[in-house]
Amino acid sequence: MQIFGVDIGGSGIKGAPVDLDKGDLAQERHKVLTPQPATPDGVADGVKQVVDHFGWTGPVGVTFPGVVTDGATIRTAANVDDSWIDTDAAALLGERLGGLPVTVVNDADAAGVAEMHFGAGRGRRGTVILLTLGTGIGSAVFADGVLVPNTELGHLELDGHDAEKRASSKAREDHDMSWEHWASHRVRKYLAHVEMLFSPDLFIIGGGVSRKSHKFLPHIKGIKAEIVPAQLQNNAGIVGAAMRAAGR
Ligand code: BGC
Repeated sequence: MQIFGVDIGGSGIKGAPVDLDKGDLAQERHKVLTPQPATPDGVADGVKQVVDHFGWTGPVGVTFPGVVTDGATIRTAANVDDSWIDTDAAALLGERLGGLPVTVVNDADAAGVAEMHFGAGRGRRGTVILLTLGTGIGSAVFADGVLVPNTELGHLELDGHDAEKRASSKAREDHDMSWEHWASHRVRKYLAHVEMLFSPDLFIIGGGVSRKSHKFLPHIKGIKAEIVPAQLQNNAGIVGAAMRAAGR
């Protein structure tokens, strides 16, 4: 069975039909640049270009980098245009796509669902927390495989700041930090804080940095939970969006 998945990110909008049995893209993904500012109208056009590239006419799952309720309504927009707030994104995108059924889901929740089924969290019970360290920090919390949606652990307070401003991958780049400094100070402190609150059995680290885990995971010491990199890497959002649209 195939469903189309789209991942709306700060820099790119990417998508492909997803093979839900394999948990993988059925075709090579297509990407367009996210318009700046990332307004609902501009992003909807981008999503349409990606979907039209494949001539797709079935259901579509879409990730969004903010809180999403009922598979449709945007509630926060930390790293995209504020005009998204309270938009019914499923209706907007569905209309732009000529009436295709659209389900919208938080980006980290989508990545988490994909990792739990097809990646680093497969078969794992207990409390599992996936954290995407990218432009912001996204979180997906699972209790015995069941997602608690929209947890937003990237906005915990850390040293008097929004945690994602301290420990995201963007924070490392913006402040020209070495991998070692970022990992041993910023990420370690952040994980210790999340661990104090949730005592997870497993942390899965996702986002673009998951490909470079050898550069930073060895520098994160003193965390009791196991820490592993995500396995689906850049495609987790697309796969998870399609899974959510299929009701999985
Ligand atoms: C948003 C989250 C999102 C994360 C990663 C945060 O700023 O509040 O909803 O999952 O960025 O994109």
